[in-house]
Amino acid sequence: MTVTKDIIQVGVNDRTLDLFEGQYIVPEGMAYNSYLIKDEKIAVMDSVEGGFSAEWLKNIEAASDGREPDYLIVQHMEPDHSSSITAFMEKYPRAVIAASSKAFPMLKNFYSAEYPDRQLVISDGDTLELGRHILGFIAAPMVHWPEVMMTYDRTDKVFFSADAFGKFGASDADEDWACEARRYYFGIVGKYGAQVQALLKKAANLEIDAICPLHGPVLTENLPYYINLYDIWSSYGVESEGVVINYTSVYGNTEKAAKLLAQKLEAKGCPKIALNDLARCDMAEAVEDTFRYGKIVLATTTYNGDIFPFMRQFIGDLTERGIKNKKIALIENGSWGPMAIKKMTAMLEGMKNIEYAENQVTIKSALSPESEAAIEALADELMK
Ligand code: FEO
Repeated sequence: MTVTKDIIQVGVNDRTLDLFEGQYIVPEGMAYNSYLIKDEKIAVMDSVEGGFSAEWLKNIEAASDGREPDYLIVQHMEPDHSSSITAFMEKYPRAVIAASSKAFPMLKNFYSAEYPDRQLVISDGDTLELGRHILGFIAAPMVHWPEVMMTYDRTDKVFFSADAFGKFGASDADEDWACEARRYYFGIVGKYGAQVQALLKKAANLEIDAICPLHGPVLTENLPYYINLYDIWSSYGVESEGVVINYTSVYGNTEKAAKLLAQKLEAKGCPKIALNDLARCDMAEAVEDTFRYGKIVLATTTYNGDIFPFMRQFIGDLTERGIKNKKIALIENGSWGPMAIKKMTAMLEGMKNIEYAENQVTIKSALSPESEAAIEALADELMK
C-alpha cells in the first residue's frame, strides 16, 4: 500500500494471534505496520513481530526496487515492533539503526544485539535528511514506553505516530475504528494520559496530511476526528453521554439489580446504557466503556469478607490507569454482612475528582421493595 508517492506500507497482518500482549483478544487479528521511505537514501520505519520477519523483508525488497535500505528507524522497542530488527541488520549489513538513546540498551537486553558501529542516536528535535525528505524526530516518552520517538516527514506532511492512533485488528479489518482503538488505547496506553496530552500539544504545531501508526489503518481523512478522540481519552473526559453498569453476580440477584437499574434508566430516557457482566465479558471492553462514559455503576457481592474477584480485578484495572473525573454509583449485595460498598470505596481511594452518587443500594440476598426503591432513586439521580 502506498501512503504517498515515496512512502510505502511494508508491514504485515497477523491473523494467527490469540492474545495481543498476552492478554487482549484480537478477533480481527493484529497489524504490525512498517513503512519504507524511498529517496536518495531509503529509511524503513520500525520492524515487525519476529514470526513475520521473512514476509516483512520480502515486502521491503519489493518496495525498494532492489536497493538496500540505509536506515532502520526504531521508534519503539516493544517486541511486536522490534523482534525482526536483527534479521534486518543481518540482511542489510550497511544499514544503520536510528533510535533514541534509551532504545539501544533495550536492543541489547532483548536480543543481545548492539551494532556499535551502526548506531545513530537521535534526540527530540533532531532531523535526518534522506534527500528530498527531511524527517524530524519528536520524543514521546511513556507513550507508552520511555524510548519512544515519533517522526514527522516534513516533505510529505506524514506523522509516524508509533503506537499512538493504533488499534487492535489487522489493517484490512472491516470494523469501526473508534471501538477497537479505544479498547487498545485504554488497555495499553490509558495510564499515560498526561504524556499523550504533551504529545498532542507538540503535534498541534504540525501540518499533518496522514498519520501512520504502528497498528491499524493509515489515517488520511478527517484527522481532527481522531485527534479529538485522543484528546478526550487522554484528558479522561466524557466521550459519550450515558451510564455504564459493571456488575458481578453469584446467583443472579445482583444481576437482576443491575438490569433493573438499566431498565429504569432506559425508561427515563438515558441516551446510552452499557451493561457488563464482568465474569463473562471481555474485561478490556468493560474498561474502555468505563473510561468512555462519565457515570459509572459498580455492583457486586460481598465475598469472603471482600468483594467478588472479577470486580476486584476490574477496579484494579481502573485504578492502575488512574481513573478520574467520574461520577460513581455503588450497589452491594450481602446476605449477612454486606460490606462491598466499603471495600469498593477503599479500593478507589486516591483517585482524583471522583464524585460518589448519594444514593447507594444495599441488597440483602435478593431484591426487595426497599432495594427496588433505592434503585429507582439512584436512576433518578443518575439522570439529573
Ligand atoms: Fe505496539 Fe507498544 O507496542
